[in-house]
Amino acid sequence: MPPPVSVALEMPAAGALRAFLDQLIGAHRGSVPDVARPALSGAAATGRVALVGAGPGDPELLTLRAARLLSRADVLVLDHLVSEGVLALVNPAAERIYVGKESGHHTVPQEEINQLLVRLAREGRQVVRLKGGDPFIFGRGGEELEELLAAGIPFEVVPGITAACGAGAYAGIPLTHRDYAQSVVFATGHRRAGESALDWTALARPHQTAVIYMGVGMLQSHCEAMIRHGRGADTPAALVENGTLPSQRVVTGTLETLPEIAAAAGIHPPALLIIGEVVSLAARLAWFTGASTTA
Ligand SMILES: C[S@@+](CC[C@H](N)C(=O)[O-])C[C@H]1O[C@@H](n2cnc3c(N)ncnc32)[C@H](O)[C@@H]1O
Repeated sequence: MPPPVSVALEMPAAGALRAFLDQLIGAHRGSVPDVARPALSGAAATGRVALVGAGPGDPELLTLRAARLLSRADVLVLDHLVSEGVLALVNPAAERIYVGKESGHHTVPQEEINQLLVRLAREGRQVVRLKGGDPFIFGRGGEELEELLAAGIPFEVVPGITAACGAGAYAGIPLTHRDYAQSVVFATGHRRAGESALDWTALARPHQTAVIYMGVGMLQSHCEAMIRHGRGADTPAALVENGTLPSQRVVTGTLETLPEIAAAAGIHPPALLIIGEVVSLAARLAWFTGASTTA
C-alpha cells in the first residue's frame, strides 16, 4: 500500500478569491432568481432574509449562491463559527451584527435573534443570517424561519456543507464505506436542560458511523456510553478540531483511548467526534496537512 500523500491546499488570498467570485457571479447574474418565492403571498415586508450556510470554515467550500448573497447583503447577522475567510467575502459596506453562541454562553437569546431578523427585514433591508455549516443541521435555522413565516417575511435558505461532511473529507474519513459503514448518524452532544439523553442504542448500532457535534465537553461519557451500548472498546474514534481550516487537527484512537489522547493534545471546540470503523481509513486517506496525533 503506498504511503499517504499530504497536500497543502493553496489558499487564495481574500482579494484573489473575491475577484474570482465577482467574475463567476457576474457571469451568472440574471440567470438565477435573487430570492425564492415570498413565504407568504402578498407579504407587506419589502426586506427579506436569506438563511445562509457558511460551511465548516474553508471559504472555498461556500456555495456560489452564498457568496453572491454575501457580496450584496445590507446587513449580516452572524454566529461565532463563521470563519474569517468567509467574512472577507462579505460586502464591506454591510452592517455586521454578531449574535454568536458558544456552548453555555448565549450572547443573544434565540427569541431576540428571531425578533431582530423580523425587525431588520421590516426596515426593508436585505438580511443575510449567516450560520456555520448548514443552517438546518443543529443550527436552529428552522426556529428562525418559523418566526419569519409568522411575521410574513420573505425568506430563502442556502444550504452549507455541514461540519461532519467537511471535517470527514479533510480528515480522510469517508463517513460511509461499503466495507465498514452502511449508515451514518449525526447527533448533538449538547442538551437543553430537561431534555432526555441521547438514544445510545441507535447511535451504537454496528456497521454505522456516529458523528457527534458539540461532543468535546462530554467526550469521556460519550465514549463510555457507546461501549455500554455494545460498541467494542477498540472501535476507532476521532476528534477533528477546526475542520477544513489551516489549523485543523485530527486525533485518533479508540473509544477507550481517545479521551486521554484528546486531553493530552488539548483539543477544544469546535470539534467533531467521529466513531466507527471508517476512522481507521484516516491513517491512509488523510491528505490535508495539519497536525495529527495517533495512538
Ligand atoms: C451549533 S453546532 C452547528 C453545526 C453547523 N450548523 C453545521 O452544520 O456544521 C456547532 C458544532 O459543530 C461542530 N463544528 C462546526 N464547525 C466545525 C469545524 N470546522 N470543525 C469541527 N467541528 C465543527 C462542532 O462540534 C461545534 O461544536
